[in-house]
Amino acid sequence: MLTNTTRSYGGVARTFHWLTALLIFANIGLGLAANRAPLEQMALKVQLFSLHKTLGVALLAVALLRILWAVTQSRPAPVHPDRRAETLAAETVHWLLYAALVLVPVTGWIEHAATEGYAPILWPLGQGLPLVPKSPALALTFAAIHHLFAWLLMAAIALHVAGALKHALLDRDGVLARMLLGRPAGSGRTQGGHVLPALLAAAIFAAGTGFAVATQQPAPEAAATAEAGPSEWQVTEGTLGFTVRQMGTKVAGGFSDWAAAIDFDPDSGLGQVRVSINMESVSIGTVTEQARGAAFFDVAAHPVAVFEADIRPEGAGYIADGPLTLKGAAVPVTLPFTLELDGDTARMQGSASLDRRDWQVGTGYDDEATVGFPVELAVELTATR
Ligand code: HEM
Ligand code: HEM
Repeated sequence: MLTNTTRSYGGVARTFHWLTALLIFANIGLGLAANRAPLEQMALKVQLFSLHKTLGVALLAVALLRILWAVTQSRPAPVHPDRRAETLAAETVHWLLYAALVLVPVTGWIEHAATEGYAPILWPLGQGLPLVPKSPALALTFAAIHHLFAWLLMAAIALHVAGALKHALLDRDGVLARMLLGRPAGSGRTQGGHVLPALLAAAIFAAGTGFAVATQQPAPEAAATAEAGPSEWQVTEGTLGFTVRQMGTKVAGGFSDWAAAIDFDPDSGLGQVRVSINMESVSIGTVTEQARGAAFFDVAAHPVAVFEADIRPEGAGYIADGPLTLKGAAVPVTLPFTLELDGDTARMQGSASLDRRDWQVGTGYDDEATVGFPVELAVELTATR
């Protein structure tokens, strides 16, 4: 029989149950392995995360179908409704499991959608989520929540399996056989409703969210704020971003703390610029910590990067030409840019392709397939005087 009765699980419910169990075990294994894979084995780590996310999204679809099916069905009644505490515990765990089947993948997906491009979901339907902005802070919060929810799920599964084994080995009452083989068990009579166990499960998830947010690792504070010296033009807003290929996929990063001192004469098109970048403010998805490390920017030893350039007109636009001092090396950089002047407001947009090896960024990553050599720099700013 495909449908449930008050004493048995039908074929559809049983197939959904064991399919989700299988997928959940696989995806917990993948999540733990991906998180623990060393950063040095980046290719493996990225592949494990991509598999984890792809299977996780598939699991979410299966879970939603399963829940949709469950609400159309009668639920087999507890086999021992007289054992009040045991029934309450079992039902609370069932609600925890149902909630986790949705909340665990959704929080993982929000974390993924808030970061840029790292370890993509292996499907053609895009990586972002509506209403979820790209935000390192949001990603960190949801990483903490996803993490905690995943552990809540594992705890619920442990209790659930312990209960199933107790019924099979100690009580020998047919509870496991009713999920495994579809045999009917129990009287089919229920006592009490689903409200209390559902409320308990909701309270546990709410407490978990509060705990995850409260104990979240704060984003590392920048030790100092970037300063560039006196400036004729004041930057009112701007972004300093870069993209690099990681495992063949473009990953976007940026610096949140930088300052520019600009002297520029719009009539002659000549000027000077000095940009100071607080390297600690770098963010690049889930590999931010690695970017700060000794192999990449070595932020501890080289906390500030400086670009000092002369500005001159070139064709329809301009060029900023000068050394970029980063990680102890000063290497000439030519940054072509366009300028829109509107009275005393200037909007500039520029980009340049750099080779990370010129600054010894990514030592040990000599294989371009893991981390690409070219880094596309993109600057956008508005300044007034
Ligand atoms: C690993 C992921 C698992 C999840 C997410 C899960 C989830 C669930 C849920 C939500 C129910 C309640 C179904 C309902 O009445 O609507 C259920 C029932 C059940 N599960 Fe699991 N389960 C998992 C693994 C297992 C395993 C490994 C076992 C056995 C060792 C097991 C044994 C059972 C049994 C026997 C029932 C029926 C309980 C009853 O008849 O009252 N489950 N499971
Ligand atoms: C039901 C499905 C899922 C389960 C059971 C699950 C479980 C896990 C587990 C156990 C971990 C490792 C926690 C640890 O190391 O302590 C993890 C980490 C992670 N998962 Fe999932 N996950 C699921 C779905 C997803 C989805 C759909 C995504 C993204 C689209 C995702 C993204 C991540 C990420 C990015 C991490 C690393 C978290 C961090 O930065 O610490 N997960 N997940």
